[in-house]
Amino acid sequence: MVSAGSAAATAPGTSARPLLEVAHASRAFGGIHAVEDVSFTVAPGAVTGLIGPNGAGKTTVFNLLSGIDRPDSGRVVFEGRRIDGLSASRVTRLGVGRTFQSVRVFGDMTVRENLRVADMNGARGGTPGAATRIAEALDFVDMAAHVDATAGLLSYGQRKLVELAMVLVQAPKLILLDEPVAGVNPVLVEKIGDILARLAQRGQTLLVVEHNIPFVTRLCDRVIVMANGSILTEGSAAQVQKDARVLEAFLGGQ
Ligand SMILES: Nc1ncnc2c1ncn2[C@@H]1O[C@H](COP(=O)(O)OP(=O)(O)OP(=O)(O)O)[C@@H](O)[C@H]1O
Ligand SMILES: [Mg+2]
Repeated sequence: MVSAGSAAATAPGTSARPLLEVAHASRAFGGIHAVEDVSFTVAPGAVTGLIGPNGAGKTTVFNLLSGIDRPDSGRVVFEGRRIDGLSASRVTRLGVGRTFQSVRVFGDMTVRENLRVADMNGARGGTPGAATRIAEALDFVDMAAHVDATAGLLSYGQRKLVELAMVLVQAPKLILLDEPVAGVNPVLVEKIGDILARLAQRGQTLLVVEHNIPFVTRLCDRVIVMANGSILTEGSAAQVQKDARVLEAFLGGQ
């Protein structure tokens, strides 16, 4: 049991044990060092940005965190337990949810059916209350009106919202978002920003890969910058944007 005093002594986002710890993770494809000796932690409740030029290794890091791929060396620890090497479905059940750079929904299924599949694959899969969980998740992303729509017929932006609801219905402890606003119109960028800010407000831990720097600046407490497979620096959005190495990595196109 946590004593009554310890909660007051621990500021938000500075709890003793990180929710996620990546230690010296590396992954190479042939001669390409996509991720090389990457280490960072994410505290419970933190909203962290992961930025870097194209090909920096951001999606590869997400694949290592979500069980889609495994590191050649190093480790990924979630809630004190090694998760590298576990299957993607196992990692999902343990409480790591993710969205994909290219939206992944089942196009020939309805929105409700998509959410049912996601719910079934989550930590609460098979337990009563799926219909309520699905309704709540769709409501949260303002897609309740489209519950019976065929997912493949929705706009790209609406499919992004469905994909987000598919993550939310699983109530993950950590959500990995790979370019949540890439290719969406400015109104929807605003809307997705509001949804993620509301999630953050209720204590949801988020790790966000995004090229839209104003979006990252608005949302994230802390930003990690990658280039050429390695972490260049980390700090507040304002701090990292002043860093000469960061400017060079982005402007130099590596
Ligand atoms: N399965 C793979 N096989 C071979 N090379 C790969 C594979 N996955 C990634 N790479 C390479 O690893 C490097 C990092 O790719 P990654 O997709 O992680 O970058 P990224 O930072 O997500 O880029 P972007 O911003 O363009 O999405 C790139 O050089 C990429 O071509
Ligand atoms: Mg990527």
